[in-house]
Amino acid sequence: MCGITVRVGDGSAVPDLLSGLENLEYRGYDSAGIALQNGTGIDVVKSEGKIDRLQEALAGKDLHGAVGIGHTRWSTHGPPTDENAHPHTDCTGKVAVVHNGIIENYRELREELAADGHVFTSETDTEVIPHLIESHLANGADFGSAFREAVDRLAGSYAVAAIAAGTDAVYATRNGSPLVLGQDTDRYFLASDVPAFLDQTDEVVYLQDGDVVRVTETGYTVTDTTGTVVDREVETVDWNAEDVGKAGYDHYMRKEIHEQPTALRQTIRGRIDSFSGDVDLEGFPPGTFTGIDRVHLVAMGTSMHAAMYAAALLTENGVDAEAYLSGEYAVSPPPADSNTLVIAVTQSGETADTLGAIRAIQGTNVRTLALTNVVGSSITRECDDSLYIRAGPEIGVAATKSFSSQVVTLSMLTQRLVQDITGTSVENAGSLLESVSQIPGDVQQILDNSTAAAVAEKYLDSDAFFFLGRNTCYPVALEGALKFKEITYEHAEGFAASELKHGPLALVTENTPVFVLFTGEDDQKIISNAKEVQARGAPVIAVASEASSAAIDQADDVLSIPKTTPKMSGVLGNVQLQLVAYHAAKELGREIDKPRNLAKSVTVE
Ligand code: F6R
Repeated sequence: MCGITVRVGDGSAVPDLLSGLENLEYRGYDSAGIALQNGTGIDVVKSEGKIDRLQEALAGKDLHGAVGIGHTRWSTHGPPTDENAHPHTDCTGKVAVVHNGIIENYRELREELAADGHVFTSETDTEVIPHLIESHLANGADFGSAFREAVDRLAGSYAVAAIAAGTDAVYATRNGSPLVLGQDTDRYFLASDVPAFLDQTDEVVYLQDGDVVRVTETGYTVTDTTGTVVDREVETVDWNAEDVGKAGYDHYMRKEIHEQPTALRQTIRGRIDSFSGDVDLEGFPPGTFTGIDRVHLVAMGTSMHAAMYAAALLTENGVDAEAYLSGEYAVSPPPADSNTLVIAVTQSGETADTLGAIRAIQGTNVRTLALTNVVGSSITRECDDSLYIRAGPEIGVAATKSFSSQVVTLSMLTQRLVQDITGTSVENAGSLLESVSQIPGDVQQILDNSTAAAVAEKYLDSDAFFFLGRNTCYPVALEGALKFKEITYEHAEGFAASELKHGPLALVTENTPVFVLFTGEDDQKIISNAKEVQARGAPVIAVASEASSAAIDQADDVLSIPKTTPKMSGVLGNVQLQLVAYHAAKELGREIDKPRNLAKSVTVE
């Protein structure tokens, strides 16, 4: 978490730094700050709170400097205060540093530096970095050597950028946290993520762990861990600036919910061969997974729900598959060998828990595959292969379109895995793939006709909200509850429908609406579960298509989805639940795109 920006070029760095921070605010919004090289020294302005507070703090200040660094914070060490806001400086105020990640050995370093007379003004782990640079400068090192020597002392994950008085060079490095360089004709940028500078340039260099980059107005040099100059490829990103703007919507989340038909078309494009009725996944021809006999999916949050969805599809088709929370997998990986495929499902490709899961099995013969939205993200470098979900940039903290694109990509991948592993096709493969092709249109139909706003309003004053589903709709129930709780702050829980009567039913009252997902397959059992809650007075909202007419007849309210194959109905039902969560949060006046305590990209374990 946290977003860092750097800008080097002609003219004032302030507007570019601020716009970069605004574009990165999804990574954290506890505090923000900038530091500028003013020709003779360093100016730092920072403030607790969102970027508008920083803008207020900057108002009326006559700041100069074409070289600057900026930071938007998601607190880990120390509460959100002005003192803990980045950039952090050394004792002399001549070195300023921004950092994303966690310095694991900061206590030892802090004690050592304090014993040498350094005075700390924050509770952060980051502050050891400028003091380390300061002590190497005091020993006669130049800025570049002092930066490198300071970084050599750090353990943990970090992307760090530093400026120092008396030099117009910025030094930056990464280890386990993202850092991208952008080059325009007359300016250079560094940032935690491409959207920071996408309105200025689409030419980027994805830096790698251990790289140290020196940037000045006239160019940049990248060196590796040994100090040897390395050539990193300049790539052109195919997202454009409008993709990361709100395009007239009130919130990124709303925009991203409505982008799903387009995102899904991109996800599917060229990947289904309607003539042969097979999937055509770039780089994964038939036979790619021959020899694999077990699939582990590792993921967190919404991505975990997509992973569970895929595990259910695979298991049902005879593949030994299990979804694991990456954070748990990392501490205790289950048995896996060269016949195991581990799929890391992560929208951002930067989630520390998921990177940790993959690192936990590095050095074994296990095959790894990254399923992500972000080209060049850390997970793509950690895994043997990558498959992209192509959903386009997702800025709203609550994941929406990425879930749909993950499930659809995994459904297509399931086809390839089942063929290679079992030698047979997915059950009803033709109709499954046909329903996948129709998903963009089906989602559009939901967006055009949804009554989710009325349902959200009707039940807004409830005590709690429950979500039930079976099989592939169990993870959708979990996802519906996650979305609801994270943006409304109301109590919401998802359950496997069969589990309800084993305890959670005690929570059900007339004031706890229950959203029940129907697929048109084995509806009778879940109708019984719905009846159990209705018998306790709870209203039931059926999320169902006309294939579930019996369920619809008995529900108190209905969120309608187009008829599709049972295995794809979860994707459609989920869109209705996204809309319910969105409208409820809007009615409650919540900060939908930046829910409290959360950040989009969780780069700490
Ligand atoms: C929920 C949400 C999070 C993420 C989770 C994993 O709306 O966005 O739960 O799904 O932090 O993130 P990725 O997919 O980037 O690994």
